Amino acid sequence: MAELTAQGNRQRSAAAPEAAAATRPPEPQTVGYPYVEQPYLQTHHVDVRYGDVHAIKNVSLEISRNEVVALIGPSGCGKSTFLRCLNRMNDTIEQARVTGTIALDGQDIYARGVDVVALRARVGMVFQKPNPFPKSIYDNVAYGPRNHGLTDSRAELDEIVNVSLDKAGLWAEVKDRLHDTGTSLSGGQQQRLCIARTIAVSPEVILMDEPCSALDPIATARIEDLIDELRDNYSIIIVTHSMQQAARVSQRTAYFHLGELVEVDETVKVFTNPQHRLTEDYITGRSG
Ligand SMILES: Nc1ncnc2c1ncn2[C@@H]1O[C@H](COP(=O)(O)OP(=O)(O)OP(=O)(O)O)[C@@H](O)[C@H]1O
Ligand SMILES: [Mg+2]
Repeated sequence: MAELTAQGNRQRSAAAPEAAAATRPPEPQTVGYPYVEQPYLQTHHVDVRYGDVHAIKNVSLEISRNEVVALIGPSGCGKSTFLRCLNRMNDTIEQARVTGTIALDGQDIYARGVDVVALRARVGMVFQKPNPFPKSIYDNVAYGPRNHGLTDSRAELDEIVNVSLDKAGLWAEVKDRLHDTGTSLSGGQQQRLCIARTIAVSPEVILMDEPCSALDPIATARIEDLIDELRDNYSIIIVTHSMQQAARVSQRTAYFHLGELVEVDETVKVFTNPQHRLTEDYITGRSG
């Protein structure tokens, strides 16, 4: 266990200049592989505080393209907080303070001058409860592309709506009722509509915070199939309370405990041979 941690961390230390080493925060005690060979989204030494509540503690995690990473852990351990750092949704919470470095494709997303609206198009988010706008199915999906000025052409907009709904696995069910309201759809359909809305602005990363917790098993299975297909084009980070779901959809799993990233590794390994006692206690149901 110690060897894995040391290995992941040593590669970083070796590359860092001596001067920086003196001021650098201590390496997190995460077991496993928080770093990847070709990171696309990088979080280094991230801390989040809500006033006196220290919700995320020195978390470093990297995500590559075309992978699904599952975030698991007991309620209140900071999963949603961490997810919200990745597209600056915590900016909307008055007392939230985020420190550390978060970079998307090499660019610091907290740097001065970053356009947060554009960032949230690149790093889209799907919430626990489907939240379609009180607009037509068509307008729900067309909203983002119109807002971001992706096209002026009606034909192109039609095409984006069609392709997005198709990728979200909803086109066949709604193609004859595009002008019905989004809220007239079933819960599972609404969640797929929200995914289509996210995809419509061509994001690079999709964040999902318990996207299936309000859905029945059939709707859940559809979303899980969809996540697997979306992986071809996007990086996906999904928070889930279902270990079966994490096992089905993700390639790596990250276990959070009291704001710390305790262990991250290949999903199969985390579930069959966890290295940290806290991870083992959680997945065997002894805690959480
Ligand atoms: N807006 C907020 N203001 C103050 N404290 C908050 C806020 N949001 C979260 N917290 C606190 O931060 C900690 C982490 O909460 P978070 O919602 O990130 O946990 P979680 O792992 O997503 O939990 P759950 O599984 O229940 O969704 C908790 O102690 C929580 O009370
Ligand atoms: Mg949460």
